[in-house]
Amino acid sequence: MCDEQGAAEVETDGCPPASADLLAQHAPALLHEAQVGLFVLDVVDQRILYANPYFAELVGRSPEELLTIPVLDMVEPEYRDLVAERLRERIAGKPVAPYTVIGRRKDGTNFDAHIAGRRLEVDGRLTLVVTITDLSDYNRVLRQTQRIQAQKEAAEAAAEAKSRFLAAVNHDLRQPLHAIELISTALRRNLVHPAALLLCDRIDQAGTSMTALLDSLLDVYRLDSGALHPSLRTFPAGDLLRDLGSEFGPVARERGLRLRVTHTAKTVVSDPAILRRILANLVNNALRYTQQGSVQIVCRRDASGVRIEVRDSGPGIARDEHQRIFDEFTRGAASADGTPGTGLGLNIVSRMASALQAPVTLRSEPGRGSVFAITLPRGQDVATHGTAQPAEPVTATLPQFSETG
Ligand SMILES: Nc1ncnc2c1ncn2[C@@H]1O[C@H](COP(=O)(O)OP(=O)(O)OP(=O)(O)O)[C@@H](O)[C@H]1O
Ligand SMILES: [Mg+2]
Repeated sequence: MCDEQGAAEVETDGCPPASADLLAQHAPALLHEAQVGLFVLDVVDQRILYANPYFAELVGRSPEELLTIPVLDMVEPEYRDLVAERLRERIAGKPVAPYTVIGRRKDGTNFDAHIAGRRLEVDGRLTLVVTITDLSDYNRVLRQTQRIQAQKEAAEAAAEAKSRFLAAVNHDLRQPLHAIELISTALRRNLVHPAALLLCDRIDQAGTSMTALLDSLLDVYRLDSGALHPSLRTFPAGDLLRDLGSEFGPVARERGLRLRVTHTAKTVVSDPAILRRILANLVNNALRYTQQGSVQIVCRRDASGVRIEVRDSGPGIARDEHQRIFDEFTRGAASADGTPGTGLGLNIVSRMASALQAPVTLRSEPGRGSVFAITLPRGQDVATHGTAQPAEPVTATLPQFSETG
């Protein structure tokens, strides 16, 4: 054997090149086994002189039969003129680039035939040596890939349009709401009459409700349109809980409730904006449905990660409502007294929690308060205020109501 590295040395020894040797000895076997269709065409009578088994199998005919039929019979009728023209060009010695047509088998089925050919003189006869590659599988995959690509591009365009719509709605509706808020504040400064101040309160309440509804509708829209893409990162849970405490503190005071937030050094892996919307909905509910006592945001470690609980000393929720209240536009007994709301909050909570793959649980029974909890993967604990502090013991901040199981 002449290996590639030793070729120069071996040639001087008279060793013939391995490829020439192989071809001389095994040409018929090589043609027989080649996994590409090959035939030799007599250019005078346009009959096949030789066809290898791969080509015979490709067109569903025996090698002997192939010697007797016109070559154009193996092409779909609408491609026959094209193939005849290419054959003429090849015979005339013009350059013809390889091309693809629809081939036809004996049983009438088709395949994508990629054709390439060369002129060759064999025993004084002018012939064409033609190779046929079956591109059916390749083209099928290509078409499928193109279809998927087109669908992907359409989906991306739709998502982009939805994002633009969301941004426009968000801006165009929030601006006038903000203006109403400012005007109401300015108006309040110029009013002394109690009845007029009461009207100002009503304007503020209506503005707050509209803002909450807008937030919910945008959340639902994001969820429905698939525009909610969680972006997970590790962050300190304490910062988020503190922000919620500041945001809802005034609401709690207004309602005569205590809002307590546990200090924590724990970090979680989540999307902070989505987690904030989830917790804001839970705290909002707790403050809305609790008549007296307290609402607590607690963070504790458990076997599956970090559990953030929103506990309240409110009316509690009957077991038969535990599932139902997570449905869209579904409200429970606590809101039967006419407390305003649309029944969207918990549905948003559960859908956003699913997007985060973070389970939400509820423990509650009538008269014993409620505990809504979400469990998140744990990040690495960080120090609060420069020093690592253990989380404040939960028992020290528990409100005065019985925990239910
Ligand atoms: N902390 C809670 N205590 C008692 N009942 C609750 C509590 N949270 C929710 N519920 C019950 O679950 C129902 C559904 O709550 P959800 O937040 O989905 O809607 P909503 O508060 O009625 O309206 P909104 O869409 O404005 O949030 C409420 O109407 C209420 O009956
Ligand atoms: Mg709600």
